[in-house]
Amino acid sequence: MEERIAQLLEEIKQFTDDAEQFRLKYLSRKGILSGLFEELKRIPAERKKEMGRQLNILKRTAEQHWEMLKNARAGTHSEAEGAPDLTLPPVRHTTGNLHPLTLTRLRIIEIFERLGFSVADGPEIEDDWHNFTALNFPVNHPAREMQDTFFIEKKQDEQGNNRDILLRTHTSNVQIRLLEEKKPPVRVIMPGRVYRNEAISARAHCFFHQVEGLYVDYNVGFADLKQTLYHFAREMFGPDTQIRLRPSFFPFTEPSAEIDISCLICKGKGCSVCKHTGWVEIAGSGMVHPNVLRNCGVDPEVFTGFAFGMGIERVTMLKYRIGDLRLFSENDVRFLRQFHTVIQ
Ligand code: DAH
Repeated sequence: MEERIAQLLEEIKQFTDDAEQFRLKYLSRKGILSGLFEELKRIPAERKKEMGRQLNILKRTAEQHWEMLKNARAGTHSEAEGAPDLTLPPVRHTTGNLHPLTLTRLRIIEIFERLGFSVADGPEIEDDWHNFTALNFPVNHPAREMQDTFFIEKKQDEQGNNRDILLRTHTSNVQIRLLEEKKPPVRVIMPGRVYRNEAISARAHCFFHQVEGLYVDYNVGFADLKQTLYHFAREMFGPDTQIRLRPSFFPFTEPSAEIDISCLICKGKGCSVCKHTGWVEIAGSGMVHPNVLRNCGVDPEVFTGFAFGMGIERVTMLKYRIGDLRLFSENDVRFLRQFHTVIQ
């Protein structure tokens, strides 16, 4: 039997005919291998194990060869089948695509990297110090209240200091984490997800995304802030885009300004997107408050800086004319597939 197996191993490899012929000859119920397995039953017990092993190897080799013959055939067309019909539509390959928020985030990063900004990351589960206190939020500031913040744990230490744990309400926490670790010059953008306890609607969600920006160095001024954001707006939305700075208030900046861009949709004439003002807000910004620098061990007499926080959803909605915030998290492929052809 041993010899027969060795001989068949060779024979099988030489077989180049039709796959079905091969199967009938070797692998079918009445085929050669089946016969050999029958014979195996009659072989003396002391040789049975070894013969069984060899037979199994033969079987596996035959099966592999059969697969190979089948595959080889799939690539050719026999006369009877005729040539392939070239007028048939091709089988469509559906590849995935990036989420529109990812596209926007990557584009924002690209624009700021060219200005020399690096990219940093911070935790979404944060403590009171990094999300509020170090950012100069007064103790009873309304932003700390339950309506806005998802608290995970409310606690105080022995000295009565606030040690609450919460889901960050903005990416400004990364400003603090960064400045605590690294001394100026610092020129960084910090994209990430933030959480607020808001009712979900077309214009608000309980989580969304921001990009924080921070530039601290000798002699950084308000003109640097303005020019940086102006450059960003034109890169992101096109060369005709105008920006407008409106005085505002944030505890962590002084002075503070809200950044509007000229409405892309009506080109400033007035429409429902810009609520007939011709302008839409994209970011909050300002000069970093001296208290914030001090809280991070940076001397505000030596260094100054600007910061901004931009909504990624907001930028995406404007760029791609999307009217409902909820679309970003519903995972409806009919929406997501529309970004398939967006080229970076
Ligand atoms: N953190 C603010 C918010 O979530 C946005 C913001 C405003 C960030 C001004 C900044 C800034 O860095 O300077 O509404």
